Amino acid sequence: MNYNNILANYSDGITTITINRPKKLNALNRETISELHNAFNDADNDENTKVIIITGSGEKAFVAGADISEFADFSVKEGGKLAAEGQELLFDFVENLTTPVIAAINGFALGGGLELAMASHFRITSTNAKMGLPETSLGVIPGYGGTQRLPQLVGKGRAMEMIMTAGMIDANQALNYGLVNHVVAQEELVPFAEKLASKIMRNSSVAIGKAIKAINANYKDGKDGYKVEIKQFGKCFGTEDFVEGTTAFLEKRKAEFPGK
Ligand code: COA
Repeated sequence: MNYNNILANYSDGITTITINRPKKLNALNRETISELHNAFNDADNDENTKVIIITGSGEKAFVAGADISEFADFSVKEGGKLAAEGQELLFDFVENLTTPVIAAINGFALGGGLELAMASHFRITSTNAKMGLPETSLGVIPGYGGTQRLPQLVGKGRAMEMIMTAGMIDANQALNYGLVNHVVAQEELVPFAEKLASKIMRNSSVAIGKAIKAINANYKDGKDGYKVEIKQFGKCFGTEDFVEGTTAFLEKRKAEFPGK
């Protein structure tokens, strides 16, 4: 599919989605959010895609936030709608995909950019990256899940400080906070993400999807994560991947998972 603001490329089990508005530091306007929804949805429905990598084009930014020029004159109602639609179309949508999503943060990840990275299943970053939620410096608060996911990832006190100061942290501090899992040189970022993806692909995609559901259940109101784990664990026993995985182990050979 052709998009105006993003690129989506498939190769060897990986769909790489690149936000491609480098002159605007890949800021998320409404059209970009809608295109990202479609690209993530297509990749998730594509049975060949085992891992999705999300990154930004250019050397400067992953995403420098929601597009400020689009909401500067919004009313209370429009502001609420902007956050609700964005969360549904992109941020909650990405978090709940059963295809693993790796955010490869190649530069500024601010506001909606950091929120998109946090909605992804895990994050790696290049050494030049800067991350933050600067919304309070604009008179607003994070609206794409940032007040919820940042404390989940870094702890309440650090999240409070980052949101109140509207400051940026560098890659090493993000690593130290547990916000990102790895820091690598910029030119190694996507190859490193692909290396992690190829490790993930050796395992059962069906089991991984169920693990994502069980892990996410811990962060959802009214859900008992242990019960979700029990249910998803049980379901694995009815899959072809489980038969193949256990048979291969007993036969002392490498499993060839059918992904079913
Ligand atoms: N929304 C809309 N446009 C944005 C943007 C955003 N969030 N972030 C950057 N841009 C645009 C700039 O307006 C500029 O456009 P122009 O060339 O047409 O004037 C272009 O991207 C380049 O940005 P610029 O500010 O010139 O780059 P810089 O290197 O001087 O500064 C940042 C980089 C990231 C520090 C700065 O762009 C910034 O503070 N951006 C906003 C971050 C933010 O508050 N995000 C949260 C939004 S809720």
